[in-house]
Amino acid sequence: MTEGELRRLEAEYCSWGDAVHSVDPPKIFERCQGSFLYDGRGTAYLDLQMASASASFGYQNKRLIQALKARLDHLPQLGSHYLHGDRIEVSARIGQACERIFGRKGRVLFNVGGAGAVEEAMKLVRNYTGKNAGFAFMGGYHGRSLGTSAITSSYRYRRRYGHFGDRAHFIPYPYCFRCFYGLKREDCELYCLRQFEKLFDTEYYSFWDPRAEECEFGAFYMEPVQGTGGYVIPPKEYFIGLKKTLEERKILLVDDEVQMGFFRTGKFWAIQHLAIAPDIITFGKTLTNGLNPLSGLWAAEEIINPKVFPPGSTYSTYAANPQAMALALEVLRLVEEEDYEKKVTEKGTYLLGRLKEVQGKYARIMGDVGGLGLALRIELCKEDGVTPNPELTQRIFQEGLKGDLKINGKSYGLILNIGGYFKNVFSLSPSFEITREEIDLAVEFFDQLMQRCLK
Ligand SMILES: Cc1ncc(COP(=O)(O)O)c(C=O)c1O
Repeated sequence: MTEGELRRLEAEYCSWGDAVHSVDPPKIFERCQGSFLYDGRGTAYLDLQMASASASFGYQNKRLIQALKARLDHLPQLGSHYLHGDRIEVSARIGQACERIFGRKGRVLFNVGGAGAVEEAMKLVRNYTGKNAGFAFMGGYHGRSLGTSAITSSYRYRRRYGHFGDRAHFIPYPYCFRCFYGLKREDCELYCLRQFEKLFDTEYYSFWDPRAEECEFGAFYMEPVQGTGGYVIPPKEYFIGLKKTLEERKILLVDDEVQMGFFRTGKFWAIQHLAIAPDIITFGKTLTNGLNPLSGLWAAEEIINPKVFPPGSTYSTYAANPQAMALALEVLRLVEEEDYEKKVTEKGTYLLGRLKEVQGKYARIMGDVGGLGLALRIELCKEDGVTPNPELTQRIFQEGLKGDLKINGKSYGLILNIGGYFKNVFSLSPSFEITREEIDLAVEFFDQLMQRCLK
């Protein structure tokens, strides 16, 4: 079928509700390899987003594709209510990693898609605490199902459809470049944390019953680095203080690692950077390199042991499918064999350094450039270095998709991702396997796009 025919059919038969038509006409890709996507003309697009931060080990990763092919030859399918070796081994490896990292025993369950895992976490919280309501962060993203929409801050996702369950009470994230209270980190003395702690001063602030010593809310849902919010990296002192308050008030901490887990930030879990331990961790994306929609969660033993969360508490037909498990097991073996902490940190530091060089050229327009591992952010501003510049961000994004950037006479495209509270942040999640040459190429392309769009 020609591209023209495909476009006609897409316009007529595909819902637009589950896709973003960010360029006109929308791009159609045909092939992927390493850090690149290819369109029908064979033009290569250097991908700094990698399928929403899921294809972290690169497209067509040989070892992972091999594991999947081997699985197809032996046990391609099995009902998720049955056990198979890989499923047990994947659970054990994640459980043992958590034991090593947090010194706490727990168990793992599986679901499909990040939102599915977060909904399971909500179920565990309700079951364990008897409370439906929760705290979550402004700028947080936990999925777009009716359950997770209640704890994802954007009203945009609820306005037409409502949501299931109690809407979370949203607290400002410690986003220091754009402080909710207009303060500067150098002398704020974590004012935002004090504001949260204050909620428990009296029953009249509506959260706390001092006589029963009970909070109305069962959990705080957080991202250790905000993903969709624009790769916002928080100061760890905030979270150390937050965790102390949550423990005092018997509120569970749910750590959503769907986007940042499995070394995106250079640690197994991103929350390790914050030096605190969660009660529940949700994960997805990178665990299968985005090759299968597996997601899941780890929860502390007292929350998930079979006495409190008995058989049949949850189930989904494809949850623990053996193709996903073969991939997940291979990913976990890979990160145990190779030092991804070092690899991701080194590559992230190099890319960040190169981006800071470019920032030097455009001074205040590249208002904030930062990163943790290979989760990097470029926040574009107006000349004052503060006012968000979503127009420029959108222009650069669109130009990158044109596929006409030139290096040595060859045409390329650059795939970026727009995030952030004001849609003025490029959140970059390149492949962990990206080479130094590809990083240099990406920086060169970004610089070309800045020059083109600032004219
Ligand atoms: C932190 C976080 N939680 C949950 C989700 C939802 O995952 P999914 O899109 O697989 O439902 C995402 C997706 O980007 C995410 O970044």
